[in-house]
Amino acid sequence: MDGVDHAAIVARGIVKRFEETVALDGLDLEVPRGSVLGLLGPNGSGKTTLVRVLTTLTRPDEGSAAVEGHDVVHQAAAVRRRIGLAGQFSAVDDHLTGYENLEMAGRLYHLDRQTAARRAHELLERFQLTDAASRPAKGYSGGMRRRLDLAASLVAQPSVLFLDEPTTGLDPRSRLDLWGVIRDLVRDGTTLLLTTQYLEEADQLADSIVVIDHGRVIAKGTAPELKSRVGGDVLTGTVASNADLERAREALAPLGVGEAQEDPVTNELRLPVGSMGSRALLEAVRLLDNEGIEVLDLAINRPSLDDVFLALTGHAASNAPATPQKGRRAKRRERAAAGSEAR
Ligand SMILES: Nc1ncnc2c1ncn2[C@@H]1O[C@H](COP(=O)(O)OP(=O)(O)OP(=O)(O)O)[C@@H](O)[C@H]1O
Ligand SMILES: [Mg+2]
Repeated sequence: MDGVDHAAIVARGIVKRFEETVALDGLDLEVPRGSVLGLLGPNGSGKTTLVRVLTTLTRPDEGSAAVEGHDVVHQAAAVRRRIGLAGQFSAVDDHLTGYENLEMAGRLYHLDRQTAARRAHELLERFQLTDAASRPAKGYSGGMRRRLDLAASLVAQPSVLFLDEPTTGLDPRSRLDLWGVIRDLVRDGTTLLLTTQYLEEADQLADSIVVIDHGRVIAKGTAPELKSRVGGDVLTGTVASNADLERAREALAPLGVGEAQEDPVTNELRLPVGSMGSRALLEAVRLLDNEGIEVLDLAINRPSLDDVFLALTGHAASNAPATPQKGRRAKRRERAAAGSEAR
């Protein structure tokens, strides 16, 4: 396959269907060795399905993919030896302690008992879980569970790591902690493919970003490149009265570097304002005040995934329902599948 020499992950024309649903629709992707790719997309865009194809958990209907030069279908065992996966839904076994979870992960990767024990201790230390090591995981906080999950994916020292929405559902503090942990990881040269619904997260962690929608790549670039397509920062204002929405839009027009979007239900107006920073806010207050428009809320924000989406597709990110939570047995099966034939 082209690009195998320098790319740790290559996907070409991947199609995956589930009956009527086309989850992946001819997706191409390349991740250079030692780099971090952020795969950004809304609910149901195909992120998890792609991760499952690349980690050999499911087969593509069309197209091909390789990890470290090994085909994910025909050389699945070789791929599994080289990868780690922390899935969207935690594979942590609640009834086992932190230590036992890691030891079990090691055994699934066919590490001998001593090596599995040593790795478990090392990882508990590294992820600051030593104090909680002998407590059942069911008492862990959300952040601790994510760290344990991440630790389990590293047991066999993978050169390519897949993290599917590693921080979704975490509070801001735990998210920051986990970002730090992930940054340390990639400093060692691990190739990382990370999925996320947050532009901010991809911005913080990824060297490059691929935006997908309906199983197709709709944009590629660095975070600043994607943000520049939105038109820099976004001014968000909520007017008190629906009747003022249109007047507010006209009043603020001189500040805009792109199209304003209105939401007649929430009376909210969003306007890309470039890189004026807080000056845009002061100007907006003045312009709205001149017109005597009452404002409930006014803020400058960095663009979100929704803003990028709007700029790229002309419509808001569709909100398909999230995949249902997996049961314990299904989780075990997946972890076992990821570990089986490893080594
Ligand atoms: N096992 C399955 N059976 C049927 N449909 C599926 C299955 N897995 C995924 N899909 C469908 O494929 C599409 C892509 O789903 P996928 O889980 O890959 O999206 P995602 O980007 O990971 O979404 P989320 O952000 O909610 O995790 C969705 O329409 C989903 O309903
Ligand atoms: Mg998913």
